[in-house]
Amino acid sequence: MNIQWYPGHMTKTRRMIVEQIKNVDAVCEILDARIPISSRNPDVDELTAGKPRLVVLNRVDQADRAATEQWSAWFRAQGYAVLESDAKSGSGTKRFAGAVRELLADKIRAYAEKGQNRVLRVMILGIPNVGKSTFINQVAGRKTARTEDRPGVTRSKQWVPIDKGLELLDTPGILWPKFEDQSVGLNLAFTGAVKDDILDVETLGCHLMAYLATHYPQALMSAYKLTALPEAEENEIAWGFRLLEAAGKKRGFLVSGGGVDTERMAKILLDEFRGGKLGNFTLELPE
Ligand code: G4P
Repeated sequence: MNIQWYPGHMTKTRRMIVEQIKNVDAVCEILDARIPISSRNPDVDELTAGKPRLVVLNRVDQADRAATEQWSAWFRAQGYAVLESDAKSGSGTKRFAGAVRELLADKIRAYAEKGQNRVLRVMILGIPNVGKSTFINQVAGRKTARTEDRPGVTRSKQWVPIDKGLELLDTPGILWPKFEDQSVGLNLAFTGAVKDDILDVETLGCHLMAYLATHYPQALMSAYKLTALPEAEENEIAWGFRLLEAAGKKRGFLVSGGGVDTERMAKILLDEFRGGKLGNFTLELPE
């Protein structure tokens, strides 16, 4: 897979995290609730070792409710504080400050015992497009300056005051997950976190169709008005292609000669999936 890969920026971001980690009390990782593991950078564990961690499962409005509950329980069991959020509507974001204070209750108590009233600082991490800026704006209650995460654009570190006792450090730069596992790359492509050019759109559509047909057959049938799904095949791409054909035929995406325009169907599938038009889905579950 040809994934966007910015080693220089990765190095800069890592360096910045390492430099700043001593200045923060906690680390907040914003993850995509539909792909909580694929949208996570495994290096974060090593880079932020020892700091209390809050996981924000963002985009819960697009994820499968039952799966989000499983993920919340899973992260809690690993010792993380968890906040479910839909940053677009703001749902859940109001609980952020309280969740941080709960996470740092011991520290706050220790400061109070020493008569100190220290500002709590939280480093925010998240891959591009996960909703980091939207989340920060909601939590801050205003539009904050955007921390660029595109290569070639560098911005100094930014402290965003939330209230009198809480500041966020928005991290510029990028910290991509590892793509050694094909499913991570596919999940990031399905959700639009990485551009479609990692795989041709039709192949991507085949994989997504096969996933949805396996895990959410009813939703897929009702979205494309199919009375039945083509029988599962061992080859996921071949099965996905038959599914694209079935859906494309229903939508009337035909090419001259009577075939189905599966490429057009694949584009529509990805658009509708990303736009939440097909329903609420989670693409990976805790083991
Ligand atoms: P980033 O800083 O992590 O790169 O992401 P950003 O906040 O820019 O969000 C990327 C897109 O995702 C935005 O949509 C934003 O509105 C949307 N988004 C963020 N959080 C959520 C969420 O919890 N649920 C849903 N459904 N969408 C979310 P956009 O189309 O780029 O902009 P806009 O048209 O919404 O303004």
